[in-house]
Amino acid sequence: MTSTQLRRPASLPADTDLDAVVSSGAFASAVDPYPVYRRLQRDYPVLDLFGAVSVFRYDDVAAVLRHPQVSTDDRNSTLHRSLQERDKLTAPYLSQMDDRSFLRRDPPEHTRLRKLVAKSFTRHRIKALRSFIQRHVDDVLDKAAARGQLELVADLAYPLPIDVISELLGIPDEDRAFVATWPRTQLCCTFESGSLKAAADLQPTGPDSPRQAEADRIQQQLTDYFTLLIERRRRDPGDDVVSALVAAEEHGEHLTHDEINATLRLLFVAGYENAVNLIGHGTLALLRHPDQWAAVGDNPALASRAVDEALRYDAPFQFTTRIALADLDIGGYHIGRGQHILAWIAAANRDPAHFTDPDRFDIGRTDDRHLAFGTGIHACLGGPLAHMEAEIAFTTLTRRLGNPRLDTDPPRYRADVFRSLEALPISADIKPAA
Ligand code: HEM
Repeated sequence: MTSTQLRRPASLPADTDLDAVVSSGAFASAVDPYPVYRRLQRDYPVLDLFGAVSVFRYDDVAAVLRHPQVSTDDRNSTLHRSLQERDKLTAPYLSQMDDRSFLRRDPPEHTRLRKLVAKSFTRHRIKALRSFIQRHVDDVLDKAAARGQLELVADLAYPLPIDVISELLGIPDEDRAFVATWPRTQLCCTFESGSLKAAADLQPTGPDSPRQAEADRIQQQLTDYFTLLIERRRRDPGDDVVSALVAAEEHGEHLTHDEINATLRLLFVAGYENAVNLIGHGTLALLRHPDQWAAVGDNPALASRAVDEALRYDAPFQFTTRIALADLDIGGYHIGRGQHILAWIAAANRDPAHFTDPDRFDIGRTDDRHLAFGTGIHACLGGPLAHMEAEIAFTTLTRRLGNPRLDTDPPRYRADVFRSLEALPISADIKPAA
């Protein structure tokens, strides 16, 4: 197909019933966004929305994420330039952009930094966390048994990934209560969401908005904390990722203090918010399918399948963003250079062209090649760790919770890119650890 035959992304006609829900942007935070994704995938697979092009089909999402001419750096976008011209982006926000992690950088910088960080994420270091995670999960269930109450999000899904990433980074025990207080909402919108819509929303009343000030404050707190930790590990190294990154810098491998700091901020945020949501939604899906809960309980080898199906069924990271560095052809549609693209991972994971009966939660499925960890050069670095955390959580929960019941429909889901549960109260007869 030549470029003249390519179609332009569609805009929603104003009178469709989809219009209200889609234009409000509320569909990603709906209790069940999947019927909307399906209609968009079928009727508007490439859609101009909020000044960005959204893609919903599996093949298009994968093509965008693997495309050599896309960028994760917002500064390449027309939208960024227009917000900047209209003074919608504050000086602190703009300077934060210079200081972002390798998730928001393109090759060759991305390649260099990712390679160095991947070296410190050794298989040995990840495997060593297995018994730490198991102890944590058993401890949570012992305490819940003593209390006679289990609220899965507050008791397990939220604290476990924070504790695991703290252990991996070598955050000292005495600091863990402090770092756990950084509120997840603010962390996610301050600097790594990378969404210009989020950036614009952060500043609805301009540079003096209290929300922007709060975002800047949290960002500064993280940076200050990691500066201290880097110094500490320089003096007193341990077997942790911070010490490994400091050693890389000292061996002249072109990793500066600021790059280490940005990497640690990325790992800290990426390392828990998504994992919270995987454990929360995965447990919910298993509870709603008691036969599959029982199957994992009887055969722990199935827990790994359950994790992948949970990732496919309810992708914790609903969409990600890219900027076209050239005019692109995605699935027969023309996307112009400088356009912001939203790649809807959650919709791709339910695409009937790729998954049989995609709305069925089925840990036995073999068509399980989901995109929850992304794909291409920015594919998730912490996937194996998150997978292991959820696998141990599912194995232990299905073994130790007898007769588990959902107390209520879990309360509200939080908006935007992360698909979150606020709480998941469960009644069960909690058995002792084996
Ligand atoms: C269920 C849990 C997780 C999910 C669903 C998830 C999802 C993702 C996705 C979709 C991306 C690609 C983003 C893009 O292409 O724009 C990504 C990147 C990344 N993730 Fe994860 N993630 C999870 C857990 C973790 C953990 C535990 C860590 C670290 C400890 C981590 C570290 C990273 C890093 C460093 C990147 C950036 C890679 C790059 O730019 O080259 N993630 N993650």
